[in-house]
Parts: sequence; structure tokens; C-alpha cells
Amino acid sequence: MKVKGTSQAEPLKRASEPEVKTRILVADDDDMVRDTVSNILETFGYVVQTADGGRQLLDMVDDSYDVILLDIDMPDLDGFETIRGLDKLGYDIPVLFLTGSGSIDHAIRAINMGVYDFLTKPIDDLDIFHVKIRRAIEKRMYVLQERRYKEALEDNVQKKAEQLRAQNKLLRSYSESLENATVQLMSSLQNAMEEKDGYTAGHTRRVTKYAVKLGIAMELENRELVVLRRAAQFHDIGKLVIDLSCIQKPQSLSDEEWELIKKHPGVGANIIKPLGFMEREQFIIRHHHERMDGMGYPRGLTGDQLDDLTKIIMVVDSYDAMTSFRKYRRNKNLDEAIEELHDCSGTQFDPAIVDIFTKHIEEFVPEQMVEAEAFSDGFKEDFNH
Ligand SMILES: [Fe+2]
Repeated sequence: MKVKGTSQAEPLKRASEPEVKTRILVADDDDMVRDTVSNILETFGYVVQTADGGRQLLDMVDDSYDVILLDIDMPDLDGFETIRGLDKLGYDIPVLFLTGSGSIDHAIRAINMGVYDFLTKPIDDLDIFHVKIRRAIEKRMYVLQERRYKEALEDNVQKKAEQLRAQNKLLRSYSESLENATVQLMSSLQNAMEEKDGYTAGHTRRVTKYAVKLGIAMELENRELVVLRRAAQFHDIGKLVIDLSCIQKPQSLSDEEWELIKKHPGVGANIIKPLGFMEREQFIIRHHHERMDGMGYPRGLTGDQLDDLTKIIMVVDSYDAMTSFRKYRRNKNLDEAIEELHDCSGTQFDPAIVDIFTKHIEEFVPEQMVEAEAFSDGFKEDFNH
């Protein structure tokens, strides 16, 4: 075989192994061609493996090879069938066809199948042969670099996503701690202010307790119970900034006094509003004096416009008002209160909630509070113990 030119190969650089020799796989059913091509490639400094046909090549090939030289006419699998098999393996190794008598049909078909280049047999110009090999190696280097880049990118994206998840978790936890601290602070302030009026302080504590117990009996989720507890805790906070001394007097209220009282839900909701995290609580506080029939205040919403948490507060708030001792009136005993809740079921209160509350009422209310007489000694009793 007549050859010219003998330039040496540049080793292929890979990321993990800085200088790994380029590996070339040659498949040809002709022993002499295999040996000749191998020898030439080895002279250039490449590591060469050979296969006697397409089938053996498909058995041998793996991702460690950089270039494949493939004969077209082979008895078991021809070059085109072998290319199809290589495509399925997905190693993306550039293939050069070794062709003796290439036809234009062959060439078009080969190009359409992604063959990188053609090498003619016999090899009569070593420089051209080597240029083509080196171009295929460069192509392989580009493929590997792109693959590494994608892997690094995916890895990076994954790491960033994990970092973000961790940061979000931390932020959520900070935010929850801050919310809880704010609620605690507000509760402390509210309790301190309410202590001036024993009835109000006891009322807030009891309404909160009844609401949570009723929520548990209704099998509300934990998150709902948190909202319910906060809404109950602050449902009358608006009363702290309105002069409501009139409600402690025995005479019936004037229109002006009523108008003043009706403002406390809205004032309460507006106190909570700037906090920015108790939106549902705001709604409940604003509407805890609505009625199912739309005759309540401040907006006259009807049952279908109110959520369960608001309806719970409507029931337990009224129940506590009925059964608590006030200076100017006798409080109702348990049976009377239950009767009134049922009388107002459907008009003022949600019937399903009244049913659950009255069914469980003895569990909710400590024994000493069940009988109305327990209140008659005075409202400064702490009902929470
Ligand atoms: Fe109220």
C-alpha cells in the first residue's frame, strides 16, 4: 500500500484524566485492512481495537472510544445496520466509513444517517487520512465537553435548587417564629388591657377555649385550628380602643351606643390588618357578629358568605355572653343557653355547628361552670383553671 506523511497524534484530553490516549475502534471483515489501518493509527499514537464485523463491534463498543472506523460491506451486519445499532447505544462516537468503491447513493445515505466522514481504501495519502481522523477526534472532544458542561449545569441547577429549598425552609421557620412572637406580644398586651375589666378578660379566654375545643370536635386540621385560636383570641380586640362603658349599664342602649358597639369588629380587624399575616383572622374578627339570615353586623353577610371558623366564633361568643355573669343581668344556665342556641339555629347560627357544640358542651365547659350559679359570686373568677 502506497502511503505518504507520518504526523504524530495529539493525545485526547478528558476532564477526569488530563491525558488519556485516543481510542479508536476499527471494524472490517478483511484481516489485511484491519491490520494495515491499525498499524497506521498506532504509528500516529492512538490506541486501536479491532472487530471483524458490525456485530463484534457492537459487542465491544463502549463510551471509552473516541472514533469508529467502519467498513460498509461486511457479511454479518453491514455498515448501515451497524450505525443503527450504534445510534441505539447513544454514545455519540463519530463514525468514519472505510469505503473501497463509494457510490454517490452510499454517500448520501451515510450522511443522512449521521456518518461523520469517509476514508478511502486503500489509504494513499496519510496526511489526508490523519486530518480526517483528527477532525473526528475534535468532534468527539466537542461532544464530551458539551456533555460535561450539561452535567455540570444540571448538577449546578440541582445544587442551587437544594440551596433554595433549604433557604425557603429557614425563611418559613423565621417567619413562623416572628408571627408567633407577634401574636404572643399582642396577646400579652391585650390581656394586660383586659385585666382592667374582669368580664372581658374572662370572656376572651373562654371564647378561645370553647372555639378550639369545638374546632377539635369538628376535626379541623391543625392549620385551621391555629387560625381559629388567633381569631378567637383577638375577636373583641376592637373593644379595647372604643369606649364601651355603656355595655355594663343595666338600661337598654341608645341608638348611638349601639352604633358604637357595632364598630368594634371592624376596628378589631383593622388593628390586625397591618401585621400582614392574619388575613383570615381579620375576616373572622370583622364578621363575628354576622348572622346566618343576614341580619347581623357589620355587613349583613348571610350564611353562605361566611366560613366555618367565623360561624364557630359566632356560636361560642354568643354562648359565653349568655352564660356569663354581668352586673346588670342574670346569666342563663346551661339548659337555657342550649335552648336559646337551638331556637336561634338557622337564623343566627349554623345548625350543624350548634348541634356539635351542644352535643359536646359538657366536655367543653368545666363542671363548675355548667351551673349558672357558679357565676353569681362574681365575674372575677378565673374560668380557665
Ligand atoms: Fe364581639
